[in-house]
Amino acid sequence: PLTTTGELVGRATARRSAVASFNIITLEHIEAVVTGAESVNAAVVLQVSENAVTYRHGRLLPLARAAVTAAEQAAVPVALHLDHVRSDTLLRQAADAGFGSVMYDAARLPYAENLAATRAAVDWAHAQGLWVEAELGEIGGKAGRPALDAHAPGARTDPDQARAFVADSGVDALAVAIGTTHAMTTRTATLDHGLLERLAATLDVPLVLHGSSGLPDGELAAAVRGGIAKVNVGTALNLAMTGAIRAYLTAHPEAADSRGYLTAGREAMSRTVATIIGTLTSAARA
Ligand code: G3H
Ligand code: ZN
Repeated sequence: PLTTTGELVGRATARRSAVASFNIITLEHIEAVVTGAESVNAAVVLQVSENAVTYRHGRLLPLARAAVTAAEQAAVPVALHLDHVRSDTLLRQAADAGFGSVMYDAARLPYAENLAATRAAVDWAHAQGLWVEAELGEIGGKAGRPALDAHAPGARTDPDQARAFVADSGVDALAVAIGTTHAMTTRTATLDHGLLERLAATLDVPLVLHGSSGLPDGELAAAVRGGIAKVNVGTALNLAMTGAIRAYLTAHPEAADSRGYLTAGREAMSRTVATIIGTLTSAARA
């Protein structure tokens, strides 16, 4: 059944666990996330990033309608989340398209502008009943240096600044920069465990991990034990899909029916979903 991210993050927090949130691009991604979650009997979030909407010729509804229907027909609770939204036009489509939550991403902006833009987005989104995640950008006063995305290598979220940001913006959850970087194709990232501990102690909203594909299993489990409540995964699915399709086409050079390689890709993504959810759910927090 269709549920909301706020509900799933709340439940995960109560269990001292984390809900997995997977980026979807194609119908095969949707099907793989749902069957993967069903195979381990776990709730899951389907998230659509602004980049994915751009890929779909700027149209949110075709993918959103497929995701809503898949969620309604799933055997496990499935939420819909709009991810890394920078465009106000897209933000304003969220509720009508069936999303219960959005991640509003103004992290590229300097602190004051990020806060003002996020607060305006939160005010609008809360009036629609949406749960809002945001991200804190350029950390600390680094005058004269190029702005960092919060998840560029080396960027970190400052706990005191994060506390003020959460209080002043009214966000429901915060994406924190603690060592991960987006779009890593090797699982070689390491977390700043001390910083995660300080952030968890300082902030009273759920913490969200982005760029989770770059973490090995042990670090993913440590993130959950350290207080991360929502784990965003994108690249790991694409690696699984592309690798399986490449292997299929190499083994079947005469293949013509797209269902052959898409089946291989979808099954590989489904296994990845089940494995990652398994890692998160078995990482009980101390
Ligand atoms: O918001 C999406 C996630 O942060 C995905 O990051 O593609 O590096 O796993 P990833
Ligand atoms: Zn992200």
